[in-house]
Amino acid sequence: MRLVLFGPPGAGKGTQAARLAEDFGVAHVSTGDILREAVVKRTEHGRKASEYINAGGLVPSDILNEIVENKLSGMGCFLLDGYPRTVKQAEYLSNLHDIPLDVVILFEVPKDVLVKRLTGRRTCKQCMRIFNVNNEGITSTQTECPFCGGELEQRVDDKSETVVRRLQVYSDNTEPLIEFYRERGLLYEIDGDRPPEDVYADILGLLNSKNLDCNKV
Ligand code: AP5
Repeated sequence: MRLVLFGPPGAGKGTQAARLAEDFGVAHVSTGDILREAVVKRTEHGRKASEYINAGGLVPSDILNEIVENKLSGMGCFLLDGYPRTVKQAEYLSNLHDIPLDVVILFEVPKDVLVKRLTGRRTCKQCMRIFNVNNEGITSTQTECPFCGGELEQRVDDKSETVVRRLQVYSDNTEPLIEFYRERGLLYEIDGDRPPEDVYADILGLLNSKNLDCNKV
């Protein structure tokens, strides 16, 4: 199983990836999570990436290509979330992996819903679970994770002005990938503006129809 979860900021890629990783035992490779960890640890990549992330721009592709190449090395089964984000990155990925992707899942969500989700997102610093003040589970003033008691935080790039920039960057740089993968017969579109469990049911239907799991790489 080699999947790419694809779509605009706030479309639900990370939410669905976490569940797929748990249920299928597939490695969840999130370039956003990897970069944020590098920023916290003040690694060389982290120092270079932080200004781009905070401004809602794209981190230079040479950094991302190196990260993904190292991460996927020897991995037969993976779920990519946040990469590729440009046609150049997609070309790099297809040259990198001698075994092709199985499917690219595009989550479609209207822009106003994305803005509401992103500005309402909170992440637990300890267990990394993702919540939203607009959904059941936490309130807008809550600071403790309901699962582990860890501190809930808002991502620096989820402030409203940065969200607007990220959505523009997506439409300018990442949307062209839709055609790239459609032409290659890999694109599968899902209506992401429904409850997470309904979105997940669609993904399961797709994986079953293609007979994909982690034992069949
Ligand atoms: P990254 O972390 O990848 O951010 P993103 O792609 O903008 O996606 P998000 O994590 O914001 O959203 P998501 O789709 O995962 O939604 P989630 O499930 O959390 O990248 C961050 C930055 O790193 C980039 O801006 C860039 O600077 C850099 N970067 C990363 N990769 C790069 C690359 N390849 N090249 C260059 N730079 C790169 O859900 C959002 C919220 O909605 C949550 O609160 C959740 O609870 C809620 N929610 C989810 N699903 C639903 C639903 N079905 N119904 C209602 N609420 C829902």
